[in-house]
Amino acid sequence: MNLPNHFELLATDGAARTGRLTTPHGLVRTPAFMPVGTAGAMKGMHWREVRDAGADIVLGNTYHLMLRPGAERIAGLGGLQRFTGWGGPMLTDSGGFQVMSLSELRKVTEKAVTFRSHIDGTKVELSPERSIEVQRLLGSDIAMQMDECVRLPAERADIERAMQLSLRWAERSKRAFEAAPDGYMLFGIVQGGDVPDLRRASARGLTDIGFHGYAIGGLAVGEPQAVMLAMIEETAPALPVDRPRYLMGVGTPEDILEAVARGVDMFDCVMPTRNGRHGMAFTRFGQINLRNARHVDDPRPLDEESPWPAANGYSRAYLHHLVRSGETLGAMLLSEINVVYYQQLMQGIRDAVANGTFEDFRTKTRAGWARGDI
Ligand code: GUN
Repeated sequence: MNLPNHFELLATDGAARTGRLTTPHGLVRTPAFMPVGTAGAMKGMHWREVRDAGADIVLGNTYHLMLRPGAERIAGLGGLQRFTGWGGPMLTDSGGFQVMSLSELRKVTEKAVTFRSHIDGTKVELSPERSIEVQRLLGSDIAMQMDECVRLPAERADIERAMQLSLRWAERSKRAFEAAPDGYMLFGIVQGGDVPDLRRASARGLTDIGFHGYAIGGLAVGEPQAVMLAMIEETAPALPVDRPRYLMGVGTPEDILEAVARGVDMFDCVMPTRNGRHGMAFTRFGQINLRNARHVDDPRPLDEESPWPAANGYSRAYLHHLVRSGETLGAMLLSEINVVYYQQLMQGIRDAVANGTFEDFRTKTRAGWARGDI
């Protein structure tokens, strides 16, 4: 069954696209980067800073929120948008991926994933149906199907088994989602590791089932960047042109720019906030490690041309001092600087695609990163 389409493609430039996705909690301009607020909070940032940075949508995690504070509790408190105060569009990941990376004693069967909670050790079962139920209780604007992601390198047989299981779970997820109110969306997830024909088969299978949008999963899991980009090139053209495409868990600014050039519309990653907490800043001139001793006497701001107080209002020497001293403010400022940088990059991409100047933007942006910090 074909689901209603809430995505409007506004312009293309080569394979790059810009568009608009309408969710129950607001509009999302694409290409979009979703900062990750795993447990209902953006680590080290106020929601108003996330919004002011230009983020239209953020990501939350089924796995964390179902364990604490619990999906039924959040539903009783008005849903995730009201509970957190973010108020805007939210996408939630389905949980299977986080079970694999965070919990112990996990077991995958046809029916469900069982695991021990990383919080209190209790045994929990998460099926595709329960994952959708949890995401509905959370009030997620965009729910993700439950899938199985295989780390690379892996044998073809293992990749194929997980891809086929993910397709069967895709069907069950869609059936479980059918009663959702109008406007809420469900995305399927392409698997297939680094095997081109499995990627195409996965994309075809999901398209036959029919989703509001399509994610490309199973990448940035240990393979070189060239392999990741080659898999995007295999997958994106096999997906419906009029639906949004979301590359899960990616990535660096360079990964994002190159994936947009291959037709991807949405991204999420912990990198801007996590690296910020570790003293790294993303800038027009590449990544700058503020822990480095060369900053100790440097009176210059990170980027004197930035209109952003966090990026132009503090010396590198002060940021270095904060990071070295383990001050909370250092993590806060660098998380903000990075989330702002990512959103500025996305705005630059959207404008360039709309103006038909994406190739020029891509070349100039890459040249800035290559120049490095001076
Ligand atoms: N986040 C990053 N990669 C993946 C994936 O393959 N599946 C899911 N569900 N989440 C992800």
